[in-house]
Amino acid sequence: MAKRENEADAMRQALNNWPAIQKHLIEEGAKDALDEDGNPIDPYEPYWTTNENGTRVLHASLDSWWLKDYDESAVLIDLGGVSIFNTKPFHVDSVVQSIYQAYGVRYKEPSAGIFTEDDVLAHIERFPEGQFAAQRTGGPGAGACIGMASTMRTSRPPTAPPLPWLDAIGDMRLGAHEPNGDWLYGVEMAVHPMYQGHGIGSGLYAARFALVKHLNLRGMYAVGMLMGYHRYAESMNVVEYGERVIAGEIKDPTVSMQLNRGFRAERVVTDYCAEPAAGDAGVLIVWENPDYQE
Ligand SMILES: CC(C)(COP(=O)(O)OP(=O)(O)OC[C@H]1O[C@@H](n2cnc3c(N)ncnc32)[C@H](O)[C@@H]1OP(=O)(O)O)[C@@H](O)C(=O)NCCC(=O)NCCS
Repeated sequence: MAKRENEADAMRQALNNWPAIQKHLIEEGAKDALDEDGNPIDPYEPYWTTNENGTRVLHASLDSWWLKDYDESAVLIDLGGVSIFNTKPFHVDSVVQSIYQAYGVRYKEPSAGIFTEDDVLAHIERFPEGQFAAQRTGGPGAGACIGMASTMRTSRPPTAPPLPWLDAIGDMRLGAHEPNGDWLYGVEMAVHPMYQGHGIGSGLYAARFALVKHLNLRGMYAVGMLMGYHRYAESMNVVEYGERVIAGEIKDPTVSMQLNRGFRAERVVTDYCAEPAAGDAGVLIVWENPDYQE
């Protein structure tokens, strides 16, 4: 047993240090290399050198596209092989893909409720600390984001009547974000289905709660979509389903997960946003900052 635990520890450490090891290898490998004009080369750009016999060799690292921008000190939460960062422009493509995949929508199928790459860039510009990306940092597929969370600030408290999603966020670029709002509002959260159930969603919530504390906000709230309703749609309406999820009688893949992360359920919100699986409904969930100071 102890040996197994040691091996698991060693694996976790290797995964955690993987980007640093790769960067070291790339930089060492390029240290004495010169391009064809005799100038030092940028190890992160693919380059050619010519051998004595005249053959040309292409040098490129598969990982250089993301390692170039990888900054270990920007890791907010290290989950071992996946790290949570504030979303950067180079994360944007795979962040958008992870939303499509989480909602089971074919990638790039026009979809009114899914952010585009330009929308995510606008979120980063508007409220950089509130945008989170879960990026793979080890093994094949490293560099890609497999989860995301987007938030904004609002002065509208969770006791105000809930607005439909698009009205609450203003527009797809978070036009309703109030830089001095004292509540954090959960705009979107998505984890690629292949990676669900491994703590990535919990890590994204931990990053959001840490932000609430860091900014000394009153708390965070959102409307968690009742994504499991479609399984019960023949036997009950969505309000009854939501109330049974709140009572703990039915486990919903999204709302029960949120309640298990420390949110309090307030009530079912109907017609929140167009999502057939959830009967367009969700549950108003609130987390109050225990460290908030007036
Ligand atoms: C909701 C969602 C973001 C959750 O993400 P996730 O990465 O699966 O979340 P986690 O893995 O942290 O938690 C899910 C469950 O796995 C469990 N889990 C976490 N790590 C685990 C591990 N290593 N081994 C076993 N179980 C684990 C958690 O405890 C949790 O179960 P619990 O609620 O019974 O405690 C994800 O399911 C999703 O993208 N859904 C579709 C889109 C959606 O609904 N978005 C939210 C709209 S409001």
